[in-house]
This record gives sequence, C-alpha cells and structure tokens, in this order.
Amino acid sequence: MVKAMRVYELGGPEVLKWEDVEIGEPGEGQIRVKNKAIGLNFIDTYFRKGVYKAPNFPFTPVFGILGVEAAGEVIAVGNGVTDVKVGDIVGYSGNPMGAYTEEQILPADRAIHLPPSIDPIVAASVLSKGMTARFLLRQCFKVEPGHTILVHAAAGGVGSLLCQWAKSLGATIIGTVSTKEKAAQATEDGCHHVINYKEEDFVARVTEITSGKGVDVAYDSVGKDTFQGSLACLKIRGYMVSFGQSSGTPNPVPLSALAPKCLYLTRPSLMMYTVTREELLATAADVFANMESGVLRVRVNHTYPLSEAAKAHADLESRKTTGSVVLIP
Ligand SMILES: NC(=O)c1ccc[n+]([C@@H]2O[C@H](COP(=O)([O-])OP(=O)(O)OC[C@H]3O[C@@H](n4cnc5c(N)ncnc54)[C@H](OP(=O)(O)O)[C@@H]3O)[C@@H](O)[C@H]2O)c1
Repeated sequence: MVKAMRVYELGGPEVLKWEDVEIGEPGEGQIRVKNKAIGLNFIDTYFRKGVYKAPNFPFTPVFGILGVEAAGEVIAVGNGVTDVKVGDIVGYSGNPMGAYTEEQILPADRAIHLPPSIDPIVAASVLSKGMTARFLLRQCFKVEPGHTILVHAAAGGVGSLLCQWAKSLGATIIGTVSTKEKAAQATEDGCHHVINYKEEDFVARVTEITSGKGVDVAYDSVGKDTFQGSLACLKIRGYMVSFGQSSGTPNPVPLSALAPKCLYLTRPSLMMYTVTREELLATAADVFANMESGVLRVRVNHTYPLSEAAKAHADLESRKTTGSVVLIP
C-alpha cells in the first residue's frame, strides 16, 4: 500500500482525500516509480472541479487520483521494457493522470530520463510548464526577434518560463499580473512592460505601448476575463493563442470576430504537441538545454507536503502563488 490523494466526487479542494491505495505491479511495457516530487498544475483544478472531464474520473481510473506530472526513481519494470531500468531517475508529464501518490505505475514510453544536473524537485516544477512554454514559443507561433508579444499571468508557473524564454528569442514582452510583487518578478523574468490588469485597462495600455499597432501574438491562459481584450490587442493578421482558462472558460467566438483584422486563433494543448515519443523527448531535451544554458531559471517558489495538496490547490486558485508549485510525498 502507498499513500495517495484520492478524489471520489467533483468539487472544491476539500474533495481531495489522503488514503492508502494498492497500485499493483507494473505490467507489460510499464514501470513503477517512487515519486520524489509532483508538479501542481492548474489543469489539476479543472479535473477536480469537472471543467475538464477524464473518462470515468473520479471513480475508476487510477483510483480517482489527480496529477499529470512527477519525477522520481524507477523501482520496478514490467516485461518488455528495454530502455528504462530500476534505479533510473525519470520524470513524466501528461497522460496517464495519477501523479498525486507516493508511487505510481507509468507506461515506460512516457518516462523522460533526467540529466544528472536536474534535481527531481526542479524537474517536477518545469516539465509540464517548460514544455508548454516551448511548444507555445517555438511551434504554435514561432517568436522571432522584433516580435512584440502579450503574456497574461506573467508571474505564474507557465508565464514565468514563457517570459524568460521569449526574452532569449529577442521579443519585446508585455506581461500582465495582479500584484506589485508579481510585477517585480515578471520584470526580472524579462518583461519589458508589465501591466497590473486588476488596476489598469490592459487593452488601452497595450495600444499605447505598441503605438496603436497591436501585438504579434497574445498568449492567453486566463480565458474568460481576458479573451476579448486579447483579441483587441492583436495587430492585423495577429495570432491569438488561447491555452488556458484560469478565470473560467471563454465565451464562444463567432468566426466573424476574427474577420476585421484577419486574425488567427488556436486552442492548443501540450498533449497534442507531445503525441509521439520522439516529440516528447525532443521537447523535454530543449527545455533541459535551455536550463543548462541559463535561459530558464526555474522558480520553485512553493512546496507543500503531498498530504496538504488541498491547501496547495486553494492557494493556486486564489492567485496566491507565483512560479512553480510542487507537492512532496
Ligand atoms: N494548453 C496547455 O497545454 C497548457 C499546459 C499548461 C498550462 N496551461 C494553462 O496555463 C495556465 C497557467 O498554468 P499554471 O499551472 O502555470 O498556473 P499559474 O499561472 O501559476 O496560476 C494561474 C494564474 O492565473 C492568473 N489568474 C487570472 N485570473 C485568475 C482567476 N480568476 N483565478 C485564478 N487565477 C487567475 C493568476 O495570476 P495573476 O494573479 O497575476 O492574475 C494566477 O496566478 C492555466 O490556465 C493552465 O490551464 C495550459
């Protein structure tokens, strides 16, 4: 038996229950990992509340356990596993859900070997968020020197890494945040202009900063509260990248809303950019390379015992956190 945070019903942070679970032995093509750190991601709150629906969750798969990112030591391997062995230190991000546990079973082909220089706590802080920054900046819309970009929630887990990486690509970065402390962090992470969108009209400020031209791309993870404003901030033929909904799901957009400025709109996910093992490993390798070269300075700003995951959820949802949050088993 191992300890895990289980969910029996959808709801607030209080639905997370600290319990003993039996996870079994790894089957064909699987490994068993003893987690050293688990990444907290906003998506965990979507599944907990039912904003995103996983098949049969919360009742059956992996015993109703949340979590899409962790790092730890391989302690058993199933038949047919050739490139992962007992003792390896690996991370994972994405499917299957079920990381909020001391030990878990994973498909070996989702395991990412960690470079020895990267501590598992740092890995669990950066894999999902760093790989998200990578596909957003290098694939979804390719940021080049001279581009001006808008990044909402610039002091958040993804936002912090997105700004650091975009700076190294030569972009001018406009970041939005909700507090003075977050503004200071966003400036350190490379934002040339920081807007407190709780106090200022961010559309008016972006218009002013860009002399009425608008930004090349808006990276919008806030959703409902910012979506329409982000569209308004785009230049002619600009790109709207709507990749999250921390404030709620944006209202449906009629195609006609894109016509006046001939805009592009995409709603991407990391999972669809890391479908094959080759894509997964190439994306992770680029994140590690950017950490090693100093472009990415991962902010592990908050750690909580895994047994206090409910508190971590509440803090993330009430905008108290900055940078990455990890849960320690
Ligand atoms: N599509 C993908 O593949 C993908 C992958 C990873 C993450 N994401 C998305 O990226 C976003 C960031 O994820 P994260 O884990 O790094 O979280 P995070 O950015 O650390 O936390 C969310 C931030 O959103 C801002 N926010 C604005 N309005 C909010 C509201 N009403 N409630 C809560 N937060 C609000 C807050 O920053 P301020 O206080 O500064 O406003 C808050 O700190 C999430 O929307 C997530 O779903 C998407």
